[in-house]
Order: sequence, then C-alpha cells, then structure tokens
Amino acid sequence: MRMVDLIIKKQEGKALTKEEIRFIIDGYTDGSIPDYQMSAWAMAVFFQDMTDEERMELTLAMAESGDQIDLSAIAGIKVDKHSTGGVGDTTTLVLAPLVASCGVPVAKMSGRGLGHTGGTLDKLESIPGFHVEIDETTFAAIVNENKVAVIGQSGNLCPADKKLYALRDVTGTVNSLPLIASSIMCKKIAAGADAIVLDVKIGAGAFMKTEEDARALAHAMVKIGNLAGRKTMAIISDMSQPLGVAVGNALEVEVAIETLKGNGPKDLEALCIELGSQMVYLGGKAADLAEARGMVTENLRNGKALEKFKVFVASQGGNPAVVDDYSLMPQASRQQEVLAEASGYVTEIVADDIGVAAMLLGAGRATKESTIDLAAGLKILKKVGDPVQKGEAIVRMFANKADFGQAEKLIQEAYSIGEERKEITLIHSVITD
Ligand code: URA
Repeated sequence: MRMVDLIIKKQEGKALTKEEIRFIIDGYTDGSIPDYQMSAWAMAVFFQDMTDEERMELTLAMAESGDQIDLSAIAGIKVDKHSTGGVGDTTTLVLAPLVASCGVPVAKMSGRGLGHTGGTLDKLESIPGFHVEIDETTFAAIVNENKVAVIGQSGNLCPADKKLYALRDVTGTVNSLPLIASSIMCKKIAAGADAIVLDVKIGAGAFMKTEEDARALAHAMVKIGNLAGRKTMAIISDMSQPLGVAVGNALEVEVAIETLKGNGPKDLEALCIELGSQMVYLGGKAADLAEARGMVTENLRNGKALEKFKVFVASQGGNPAVVDDYSLMPQASRQQEVLAEASGYVTEIVADDIGVAAMLLGAGRATKESTIDLAAGLKILKKVGDPVQKGEAIVRMFANKADFGQAEKLIQEAYSIGEERKEITLIHSVITD
C-alpha cells in the first residue's frame, strides 16, 4: 500500500477500506507516514468527507493507537459523558455522584487542560486532600465499592489523535466534521466506556456556533459510537451564556454542591437531570428515559446524590466536610463587584468573554506551564432574562494577585441590557441516532 494512492483515492471522493485507514493511522503514529502526506490526506477528507463506516474505522484506529483503559474489572455498564466544552460547565461534578447514586458505575478519566478554568481535576483538587493519582487496581476497587471514582488522563491516550490534531491546527483542517467527531470519540472509546452520553454545545461560548452544525456533529458522533458497539446518545444544549452561576475552580465546586443539595441554578440542574437520565438509561438501570428522569430527580431531592458525593470525596482522600463549610476550600483575598451600566433586562451574556475574564482573574491556564489560582473566578449574579437596575451588581469577581480592571472591562462588554425580556432555550434537542 502507498500513502500517495490513498490520498488520491480520498481526493476522488472514494471510501477507504478498514485496512487502508489502519495503514494511514498506524503509519502516521510510527512516523513512517510524514506530516506532508498526512496533511494532504486531511485536506482531502476536509473536502470529500467520509462515510459513517470510514468515520468509525478512523475512530477505532486512533483509539487503538495508544493505551486503552480496561474497565472489565468493574461490574456493570460503564457510562461516560463528554461535553464539547463551554464556560461554567460544572456538570461532571454533579453527574458523577448523581448517576452513581442511581447504581450506574462512573469510572471517569478527566483532564486538566487549557481554558477559562481548570479541568475537572483542577476543580476537584480545590477540595482539601483530594487526589487523583490512583493506580488502576485501586480505581476499579473504589468504583466497584462506591460506584464512582475519577482519575487523571493517561499520558498515552490516542497518540495518533494528538499528532493529527496538532497537524490539523496548522493546516486549516480543524473544522472538518469527520475529523472532529473521530477525534472526540476515539478518546472516549480508549477510556473504556461501554456507553457514552454527549453534550454538544451551541452558541458564543461553544465550538459549534449554529444549531445546524451542532446537530451534524451530534449525529456523526452518535453514529460512530453505535457502529463501534458503544451505545451513544447526545443532547444539544445552549452555551450562548455561561452555564450556572460560577466560573472558577473552588467557586464551581461550591455551585456543584449546592446543586446536589437541590439548591442549584435552574439551568445547571436541568442539564444535569437531562444528561443524568440518559446515563442512567444507557447504564441499564431504567426501562426508559422517563423512569431514569424520575430516579435522577428523586436522588437530587432526597439527599442520596449529596451523600454519594461525600463518599466519593472521602474515598479519594478529600475532606467531605466541605459540603457544609465552603471556607475549607481556597478563598480569594479580594472581591469586587461589576455594576450594571443601565436598567432593563439582561438580554445577552457572551459566554466566551466571561470565560476569558475568569482566566484573567487567575482561574485558568493561558499556557500549559501557567499555575491556576483555585480561588479565583467570578460569580454571575444576573443571567439572561433577569431584571436589573443601573448600579446593581451583575457579577462578583474573586482574585488573589490579578488586577480586576481588564476582567471588569470584558464583563461589561459581555453583558447587554435591553428593554425586552428574552429567554434562552437550554436544551435544543436529544439525538439518539
Ligand atoms: N475536540 C477534540 O478533541 N478534537 C477536535 O477535533 C475538536 C475538539
């Protein structure tokens, strides 16, 4: 087989076989296929697309290019969740104990990553003593006992994807549906999930800006998952304004705990109920989505999800007393409010700008080497649809070292206040095939 022939075959719009896709991915991973040929192939895919079968084979080839996590020592159907990213997305911290409290094992591998705030691992490390460095045997034992544990991402997960993503980044081929869908799904499959729930975001704070693009991505990923033998569902949810009421690490943990107590922000709670229901259904613990929704809602109200959170935190060395005393988590030495410049209703909060403001306050990493200030970030006091008076506080900023000035300017730019009340639809659709 010669790579040049496969580039031409794709350029002509023909479907590649499983063996041809393996040849490309294996060759690219071991270095026998050079970057220039791989980028020509990625551009051919960009213009010619791939069939559902090709997308699935590409996903599996990338999943098998490095470490694959074996969760077979854990009993039951292991369901994972993936969000395509956003601002204030604290769902994992709520969903892991919530779904576990319904009997579905959650064996979650999470990352740190760059962005507006840290990843799930950084957020969890706001809890004193909490650690994620556990070996695979202990991880499986904890999940078997408590139904929930979170570990750090393996360094060698999907090396083919890592290399291809870096290449796409500099060759104008990031924005290709089959390449995005396979890139996301290979990591979920390599992480060992039996079933996968996807939260595809749309809006200013999301990768996909329109409903049409988000639906296409959701369908593509659901098809890949199901063809690969992993039951997969997706929802499409809003990320035009930040989710919930906090952006920051310890601040988001606080909001997640409030949600587990049944006092969470409405949008975050609704999203967690929707995603949680799908996870419980795919985990085989309910006959249909309606039954799953009932179980999830009940466990948020009766304290079982909160109890599971305490067990989860304690099992990984954390202090479960944080649930009743948020001051045990890192606290910012300084706070400042951002005041509304007009009266009316909040009509828009550009999620991306709020995310960048939180990062400027110290909540996120600008580069891999940056350190995170776990206490820094912001609380959103007014969301879209809320009435506001000129001079009233709309956001409270938290920082230790960072200046407030630039973040405040961005927050003012992110907010629009108008005369007419506007509502945002949180969940746009549920995609099952
Ligand atoms: N996230 C990924 O992991 N891969 C992509 O290609 C895009 C977003």
